[in-house]
Amino acid sequence: MNGKIEVEHLSKTFKKGNVQAVKDVSFTVEEGEFFAFLGPNGAGKSTTVQILTTLINATGGKATVAGHDVIGEPEKVRRYIGVALQETGVDPDLTGREMIELHASIFGFSKQDAKTRANELLEIVQLKESAERRVGNYSGGMRRRLDLALTLVNEPKILFLDEPTTGLDPSNRMAIWKELRRLNEENHTTIFLTTQYLEEADSLAHRISIIDNGEIVATGTPKELKAQIGNDLVTISFYSEEDEQKAEQILMERFGQSEVILQNKKLTVYVEDGTKQLLEVVRLLDQQDIQVETINLSSPTLDDIFLKITNEQEERGETVGE
Ligand SMILES: Nc1ncnc2c1ncn2[C@@H]1O[C@H](COP(=O)(O)OP(=O)(O)OP(=O)(O)O)[C@@H](O)[C@H]1O
Ligand SMILES: [Mg+2]
Repeated sequence: MNGKIEVEHLSKTFKKGNVQAVKDVSFTVEEGEFFAFLGPNGAGKSTTVQILTTLINATGGKATVAGHDVIGEPEKVRRYIGVALQETGVDPDLTGREMIELHASIFGFSKQDAKTRANELLEIVQLKESAERRVGNYSGGMRRRLDLALTLVNEPKILFLDEPTTGLDPSNRMAIWKELRRLNEENHTTIFLTTQYLEEADSLAHRISIIDNGEIVATGTPKELKAQIGNDLVTISFYSEEDEQKAEQILMERFGQSEVILQNKKLTVYVEDGTKQLLEVVRLLDQQDIQVETINLSSPTLDDIFLKITNEQEERGETVGE
C-alpha cells in the first residue's frame, strides 16, 4: 500500500447533455503530499473526486489510488481513503455523536471502540459541546466539521475533501485548515482538496493544479504559480481611450506583453513587487502626460489568474476550453 494518487489521461463525458466534465487530465500526488485542485464552478473538481473515490466511472484514462485501480479494485481503494463530498446525505434526526458511532460501526469498530473513537474525533473537530444535539439543527460550519470527523473515523491514508470550507465563516475555516495541516504533518495523510479559493490553496497545499473547463491549465507550488502570475496587480482606468492605448503600449514595453491585459476599460499590470512598481507605473504614465482616472493595487484573485493564463495561452496560439 502506498499513499499515492496517480492519474493518467483521465476523461469523463456525461451522456446527459453530452458534457465533457473532465478532459485528458493527468497528475500525480505523492504519499504525504497536500495537493489542491483549484477551479471555478463547473470546472470538473467534484467529477474528478467522484472518479478517484470510486463513486462514478471515468469514460477514458486510468487512475490508481493507494496503488489500486479505481475501476478494477474499488473495494481496495475504499479501504484506504476518507471522503468528504460537497453534497452529503446526513440523517437530520441523529446527534453528532450517534453519526460518528454509526460510521465507526460500518467500519467494523466494536461498540466500545466506536465510543472511544467518537470522543477523540469530537474533540479534534471541536464539536464536544454540540455532540448531543440533532445534526438537523447544526449550522453549516458544524456540519462541515462533522463531515470531517466522519471521514477520519477509519484513519485514512488518503483524504479527499471537496470544497470543505466553501460558505464557512473565517473562524470555522481556520479551524478546518488547522486540523487539515495537523493531519498532513503529524499523520502524513495524503490530502487531495478542491477549492475555489486561491488563498486556501496557497495557504495549505504543497502543490496546486488549476482546473478550468475540465482541463488542467497550470500546475506548480504556490510559489511557482505566483511567480508565473506576479505577486501583485496594478489596475488602472483612464479618462480617454487614447490615453488607455498609449498606456498599454508603454507598460507592455516596460513589463512585457503578457504582463499587461486590457479588459472592460481597465488596464491590469501583473507585477512582482506592488508597492515599488506602483510608483514606477505612475511615473511612467506621468512622463507621457497620460491622465489616470483611478489606480489600484491588489492581490490576484482566481479570476485574475485565469485571465493571465488564458492570455498567455492565446499569445502562444493555443486555445483554452471551448
Ligand atoms: N451527473 C451529471 N450529469 C451531467 N452533467 C454533469 C453531472 N455532474 C456534473 N456535470 C457537469 O460536469 C461539469 C463539471 O461539474 P463538476 O461538478 O465536476 O464541477 P465542480 O468543479 O465541482 O464545480 P463546483 O465548484 O460548482 O462544485 C459541469 O458542467 C456540470 O454541469
Ligand atoms: Mg463541485
